Amino acid sequence: MSDNVTKELPVGIANGLTNYGDRDFSLYLRRSFAKSMGYSNDMLAKPVVGIAYTGSGFNNCHRHFPELLQAVKRGVLAAGALPVEFPTISLGEVFLNPTSLKFRNLMSIDTEEMVRAQPMDSVVLMGGCDKTVPAQLMGAVSANRPSVMLIGGPMMTGRHHGERLGACTDCRRFWAKYRAGSIDEKEINEVEGKLATTAGSCAVMGTASTMACITEALGMCLPGTAAIPAVHADRLRAAEATGALAVKLIGSELTPQRIVNEKSVENALRVLLAIGGSTNAIIHLTAIAGRAGVPVSLERLNVLSDTTPVLVNLKPVGNGYMEDFFAAGGMGALMREIKDLLHLDAVTITGETLGERLGFDSADFVDRTVIAPRAEPLEPVGGLVSLFGNLAPQGAILKRSAADASLFELEGRAVVFTSLADLAARIDDPDLDVEPNDFLVLQNAGPHSTSAMPEAGYLPIPKKLAGKGIKDMVRISDARMSGTAFGTVVLHVTPDAASGGLLGLVRNGDRIKLSVKDRRIDLLVDAAELKKRETTREKPPEIPPRGYAKLYAQEITGADQGCDFEFLRPR
Ligand code: FES
Repeated sequence: MSDNVTKELPVGIANGLTNYGDRDFSLYLRRSFAKSMGYSNDMLAKPVVGIAYTGSGFNNCHRHFPELLQAVKRGVLAAGALPVEFPTISLGEVFLNPTSLKFRNLMSIDTEEMVRAQPMDSVVLMGGCDKTVPAQLMGAVSANRPSVMLIGGPMMTGRHHGERLGACTDCRRFWAKYRAGSIDEKEINEVEGKLATTAGSCAVMGTASTMACITEALGMCLPGTAAIPAVHADRLRAAEATGALAVKLIGSELTPQRIVNEKSVENALRVLLAIGGSTNAIIHLTAIAGRAGVPVSLERLNVLSDTTPVLVNLKPVGNGYMEDFFAAGGMGALMREIKDLLHLDAVTITGETLGERLGFDSADFVDRTVIAPRAEPLEPVGGLVSLFGNLAPQGAILKRSAADASLFELEGRAVVFTSLADLAARIDDPDLDVEPNDFLVLQNAGPHSTSAMPEAGYLPIPKKLAGKGIKDMVRISDARMSGTAFGTVVLHVTPDAASGGLLGLVRNGDRIKLSVKDRRIDLLVDAAELKKRETTREKPPEIPPRGYAKLYAQEITGADQGCDFEFLRPR
């Protein structure tokens, strides 16, 4: 761990001068150019709080960021420093091709290098949409300047025919109804306009909300701020307070590498399990922790999962939305419920330990329909489990809390799709040879594939079965699944098909055995046959000739390493 930054005195705009071979000239030139922006000498004498700003016309979840930015700046100025925002890459989940995960590491590089290269004494990271928060935390841990995260907050729900709707569990629910023919085109078009009606990230406990909760569990944002809705006035007050805290952090030793450690990462895993959070969060937390040199073990996840109850009743696992979680008491109420499972001596961004924070922050009201008491959990064990076995020697993930338990101990026939294109071409073919107890297998959708691990693991139920009322089947892939989705979906199979995993050798008609009890997923094909198939294995994708795609293909690691780039991990 480097603490170079913490030993430097705050030097504001004079920090890290551009190199012209003459330090005084560099400072004179910088001040001169800064003055062209209208700053007075008084302002330029202050320490600087950088604000990593991710407002973008391609990010609906961040559309309130201009107002939020003003509140952060207010907090910084009132506390005596100069706020300076700077743009970084912003990742709007549904506006990126092939998938936002491909660009998470690029955003983390951008964040890390701009935090390091520009003159700031501390930094506020403004993020919200799925990949933005992990990218910023990864970058912040690597840069290791004092940093505090400001979460953008979740959307409010909309209404359709008297029913509450929130992106995006309800997006999928209505789409499934449309595919099954139970609602018509007119209604699906109406629903389209009602799913995402305010600023903010998806309204359920999807990846964005899970990462917000994980940020608070890690201690990297102000207590009580993860769940505040994006459009709530409290969100603006949180922004102001975050700005003020960033000033306090100047010169402090509370750097990200000090806060993200074994204890805080384990706290984050406990919270992930107790909220029934997104499978994606395992990848992101592994990457964030990896930047601090802290490994996340999938075997350890299973141990924690078996001793952590699910307490939060939000979609996609339960009924409510993030606005309900906030009103119910939010992260403080949840963490107090599992206090005995947490490392209370983990230090947080305010300088308090988690134990001190939970002791002080004693909400007098907890809505027990949303945050269940420990004695009456929604599920006695955690929402996620990792599976091993010959099909996934380095692990796979199942969100058991969002799955159909009647499918947990099952042997089935594989119905294989060799790529996303093959899936799209054949899944609704009326002649597809598929039965309800078959296992749908998708290959070549992992991190090493050209599709870069999209959220395609939630394979649609083939139309011919959906029309007969089949709602869930075992689905297996090296892809990811949206945090807002649900079903008996085995994800992140590692190694993935494109990097030589056994998944690439599964053929139509093979038998596969799933045992959630034994934490195993096995291909029941004998070794001699598999050896024969190796000779016909698809070649790995070619390395693209240039650009970011080349860097991605050369450096991407597996899901068990958080899909970080090899060269970004600490040596
Ligand atoms: Fe941004 Fe869902 S689209 S969080």
